[in-house]
Amino acid sequence: MNIYKKSLLNINKFFQINLRNKNCVDEIFNVLQEILPYESAYIFYIFPDGVKAEYTRNNKLSNNCYAQIDDIDFKTKNLLKSDFKIDNAVFATLILCGNNQYTQDEELIFSTVSEIISNLIKNIELNNIISLQVKAQQETIIELNKAYKTIEKQNKKILKSDKIKSDFLANITHELRTPLNSIIGFSDLLTAKCIGDLNDKQEEYLNDIKISGLHLLGMINEILDMSKIEAGAVRLNKTLFNAKTAAEEVLNIIRPLAIKKNIRLIPDIEEIEVSADYQKFQQILFNLLNNAIKFTPENGTVQLKTEMSGCKYTLTVKDTGCGIEKKYHKKIFNKFEQGKNKDTQNSTGLGLTITKALVKLHGGTISLKSEPECGTEFIVTLPC
Ligand SMILES: Nc1ncnc2c1ncn2[C@@H]1O[C@H](COP(=O)(O)OP(=O)(O)OP(=O)(O)O)[C@@H](O)[C@H]1O
Ligand SMILES: [Mg+2]
Repeated sequence: MNIYKKSLLNINKFFQINLRNKNCVDEIFNVLQEILPYESAYIFYIFPDGVKAEYTRNNKLSNNCYAQIDDIDFKTKNLLKSDFKIDNAVFATLILCGNNQYTQDEELIFSTVSEIISNLIKNIELNNIISLQVKAQQETIIELNKAYKTIEKQNKKILKSDKIKSDFLANITHELRTPLNSIIGFSDLLTAKCIGDLNDKQEEYLNDIKISGLHLLGMINEILDMSKIEAGAVRLNKTLFNAKTAAEEVLNIIRPLAIKKNIRLIPDIEEIEVSADYQKFQQILFNLLNNAIKFTPENGTVQLKTEMSGCKYTLTVKDTGCGIEKKYHKKIFNKFEQGKNKDTQNSTGLGLTITKALVKLHGGTISLKSEPECGTEFIVTLPC
């Protein structure tokens, strides 16, 4: 049959090959054999480290793996060669070795056929890359899913143990408060000499019992408050009240502490109606004033200023105390963080954590300005 007619009859078979099949290159060699009979055919790939026979067909030998570029006699005339290119860069070469010398017509047909094979090989490689990428993506998704599941499991465990811890703290602190209150109550009764007279030593020791009891009660109350906040069990009971009355009540409680250290308490409180939780408003103020007095040396001053600015109520507590290094400005709001102040015996380091949580519950903000040895200013804003 005329070579052109044979080509026309067979060429469409190239396009019927399923390039996803594992042996699709074998099928390409089969079709090629029907158009241009050969003894052996090779597709060499050019890699940075050398040339490798990627696909071979040897009709003489059943074993194809002998294929090496050095085995081919490039001087023989029975050879057809075509380069496969991507953007002018050769990435592979197709070589056909025939029994006899190829005719000019066959050379012409080879150039067209090799063009088709070049495109098929490019598509095969593209398919390989895509399926590798899909596989890698699938593996990543599987790994991610596994990781998510592990994290989810661990989160559940953490939440569960956190709840157990909060419940435990809430229970234990509640149980501790009851006997502690009776210790404080009975020491009050004895100090009031309702039961009988006391000598000086007895009075002094009773006072020590009461002070230690009160400290312990303060710490227990803080832990209880913290566990309630963490459990999300704190609810606001908002009412409209006079901020000056609420602040003055706190000042009356705190004043003896200031007098003890000869600290001047300077209030500058506006007569304003605020909408907040009365008890929690006083707790915020108490914590800040208590800190200011605690961390200010004798003969210092502590100022309390309250004012309305726009639709915000601002509360400022400023002292002339030891100040706070910049690196602790954020940290001191964390649980049990006490900076590097030594004056923290009988303290738990929860005061500011609770204060911040209470301010947040009101939808407000808390910030500070401070430098070591230059005093500290805490600023709380609450929406009205
Ligand atoms: N006015 C202040 N001046 C200097 N340092 C302060 C002041 N207020 C807070 N700090 C620093 O921030 C730390 C954390 O304060 P926070 O009120 O949370 O804990 P605490 O007072 O140590 O203990 P607690 O309030 O639980 O009794 C304090 O230990 C102290 O180092
Ligand atoms: Mg405190």
